[in-house]
Amino acid sequence: MSGITVTPVGYALGAEVTGIDLAQPMSREDAQAVLDAWHRHLILVFPDQHITPEQQIAFSRHFGELDQHESQPFNRHPDHDEMMLITNKLVRGKPSQTKTAGQNWHTDLSYTIRPAKGTTLYCLEKPSVGGDTLFANMYLAYETLSDKMRQFLDGLEGVHDASLVASLDKRDPALTAEFKRLNPLVIHPAVRTHPGTGRRALYVNQRVRNFLGMSEGESRAIIDYLCDYAVQPRFVYRHRWRLNDMIMWDNRCLTHLAVGDYDPAEPRHMLRTSFLGEYVGRLLNPGDAATAAAPAQARDLAVALSNAHD
Ligand code: SIN
Repeated sequence: MSGITVTPVGYALGAEVTGIDLAQPMSREDAQAVLDAWHRHLILVFPDQHITPEQQIAFSRHFGELDQHESQPFNRHPDHDEMMLITNKLVRGKPSQTKTAGQNWHTDLSYTIRPAKGTTLYCLEKPSVGGDTLFANMYLAYETLSDKMRQFLDGLEGVHDASLVASLDKRDPALTAEFKRLNPLVIHPAVRTHPGTGRRALYVNQRVRNFLGMSEGESRAIIDYLCDYAVQPRFVYRHRWRLNDMIMWDNRCLTHLAVGDYDPAEPRHMLRTSFLGEYVGRLLNPGDAATAAAPAQARDLAVALSNAHD
């Protein structure tokens, strides 16, 4: 039997897990209990953990095959391809490529055909105030939309664009060009069924350029509406970092954002792993009617939403 204790820290999502030392090999019972809690709470916080990169990697491996960061030529850990440095400190004597990473609402690796199922992030240094991370529950976003809107979204596919990753202009231009070359446009359903829970979740975020079969103009109003709707405060958990917090989130049913609300002169240094999920996406083919005329129903909805924003 597992000895972990799971205590909710947010109503919409988020729970703290105690009674486990991630520096030790995890028992099968604890791994199952963590998985169950993760499915229920979407983001788990393991406070006061003292772990090495190897131990973070070993923990992550319980939940899936680890991403080797082949699609992201930024701040790979010098000794571990499975780990990325999310930091504002110098990396090998050069400015960090991830000091403003994650500062728009996104779900990890959605610009690839096999996005990250989950992510772990371990806090080694933090600013005196701020540097928080926000998480929004995309099950609730989907479930609380009207029946009509859900029916409309059920048939849609989003075109995910790596060039919409936040503040790429602050990164090294050659690495950014390589990042874009490695990540051509991909298509994902606008709504995904979570294989572990059977629940449906909205899979639209600020990295979606348009919906397949609709123009960017038509899509824009709907994407903006959904992105705003999904991150209203009642769906959000705000993680205020403490040193040695290890967190683990589920990219299939939440979206997240690094707030960037801290003094950049103070260090913020985190280690990240991502574990891969299902192949849910496909590359956008030239034959795909990405900007073809939209069905009349979609056009009407786009116009109505755009008027609602005026
Ligand atoms: C990320 O989006 O993976 C980084 C989140 C953070 O640094 O708070």
